[in-house]
Parts: sequence; structure tokens; C-alpha cells
Amino acid sequence: MEIRYTTLTYDLAEPVAYLINSCFPDMTDDDRYVPEDLELMADIFAEGSIVALLGGKQEVVVGFGTGIFTDLDWRNLPETESEVLGELCVKNHDPAGKFYYGSEFCVHPDFRCQKIGRNIYDRRKEVVVRNKKVGFFAASVLQGYVDYKSGIGIDEYFRKIENREIYDPTLSMQLRNGFQIVKPIQNFFDHPPSNHWSALIYWGNPEMGKTDFREI
Ligand SMILES: CC(C)(COP(=O)(O)OP(=O)(O)OC[C@H]1O[C@@H](n2cnc3c(N)ncnc32)[C@H](O)[C@@H]1OP(=O)(O)O)[C@@H](O)C(=O)NCCC(=O)NCCS
Repeated sequence: MEIRYTTLTYDLAEPVAYLINSCFPDMTDDDRYVPEDLELMADIFAEGSIVALLGGKQEVVVGFGTGIFTDLDWRNLPETESEVLGELCVKNHDPAGKFYYGSEFCVHPDFRCQKIGRNIYDRRKEVVVRNKKVGFFAASVLQGYVDYKSGIGIDEYFRKIENREIYDPTLSMQLRNGFQIVKPIQNFFDHPPSNHWSALIYWGNPEMGKTDFREI
């Protein structure tokens, strides 16, 4: 299986919008992407959006990860992810921002667990390093909490994931990719299966020396 990784362009806007919408079935109609949203991302910050394409006669989009540069204060977060990202998930992009904030990230269900997600993270980390940003924040969609939320609280859920007693399809993968859990956040975005809980996560750029979020 040959996968090519590239940055977002206009001709990829439609298949990427389709991929995101199909990977997040719990998304409300208002939040669904249209190709024009992706075109705007390509206009504003193409470098920050990585697309995974499955080779063949006609390439197929199988993965995507995007984000913006911003100054984020993890101790005083805005109430919602939309406030971080701005209109159409990209309008708050600030080239001078100290951090990369990762927003949408998904791999087509038929192609998961084949390290496409890891490769997309590696390329987004390269964007952080190349641009001399301090680190990479994201809010993890806790896809696995639905099975535990009636039994254990969010802090215990995180502890069990860190101890590898529980596997969460997103957060476990993110920890294996070098991210730390900063703190639980609720109602940062809508995700009914997890009771709207999420984990703020952080990866520090080793070249900038601040690899632990407590140092920033
Ligand atoms: C999160 C997501 C992007 C990951 O993509 P992916 O291509 O499957 O990721 P990878 O293949 O790189 O990594 C999967 C990891 O989980 C591990 N894994 C998978 N199932 C596992 C299990 N049951 N137990 C333990 N580890 C498991 C794999 O071994 C791999 O780890 P490794 O890289 O250390 O070997 C994908 O699951 C997805 O699109 N989810 C739905 C959308 C979503 O929630 N996005 C995240 C928003 S924050």
C-alpha cells in the first residue's frame, strides 16, 4: 500500500470534506464541512494541513490533519474550540502564534491502524519544528469514553489510559505519538458519546526546549 502525503490544495477540498464528515458521524449538520471550507484552509494555511493519498491510477484521500498557529494559554483556555480556531476553523490563524493547535484529524475507517495517523502527526510536527514553534496543542475527541463514562470519572479514565489498562482509539494513539495529557476539558466542542469531555494534549518541540507543558 503506497501512501503519499501532501499539503491541502483546491482539488483536494471536496474529497477531504467528504472524509472528515464521514469520520465524525456525531457531527451536527451545522458543523459539517463543505469544500469551500477546505479551500479557505488551503488559502490561509495550506502548510498546516496534511492530506494522505492512497496511490493508484486515481489517488484516493484516506487521511487528513489540520491546524493553525496561535498563542494559546493552556491555563486560561477559551471556552470553546471554535473560539480558538475562529470562523470556519481557520480564521484565527496567526503566522506569529507560538503554537500549532491541531483541529480536525482523521483516517478513513478502512485504513486505520496502518500508521497513517502517525505519519500525519509526524508531518504536522515537522511543520512545528520548521517554523520554530514552541509546541503542538490539540483537544482529543475521546472516542472510547462512551464505554466507561457511567463507571469511572474522567481523571480515572485518563489514569487508566496512561497506565495502558484501557485503550482509547484516539487518546492512546496520541500518547503513543509523544503527546502529554494537559487537563480534562468539558464542552470545548460537542461530542455527546463522551458527555462532551475531551483531553487537552501537548507535544513540545524538542528544538525549542519546552517539552513539558508545565514549562510554558
Ligand atoms: C485517531 C485516528 C486518526 C488514528 O489513525 P490511524 O491511522 O488508525 O493511527 P495509527 O495507525 O498511526 O495508530 C494507531 C495506533 O493504535 C494502536 N492500536 C490500535 N488498536 C489498538 C488496541 N486495541 N490496543 C492497543 N493499541 C492499539 C496501533 O498499534 C497504533 O499504535 P502504534 O503506532 O504505536 O503501533 C483514527 O482512529 C480516526 O480517524 N478516528 C476517528 C476520528 C477521530 O476521532 N479523530 C481524532 C480527533 S482528536
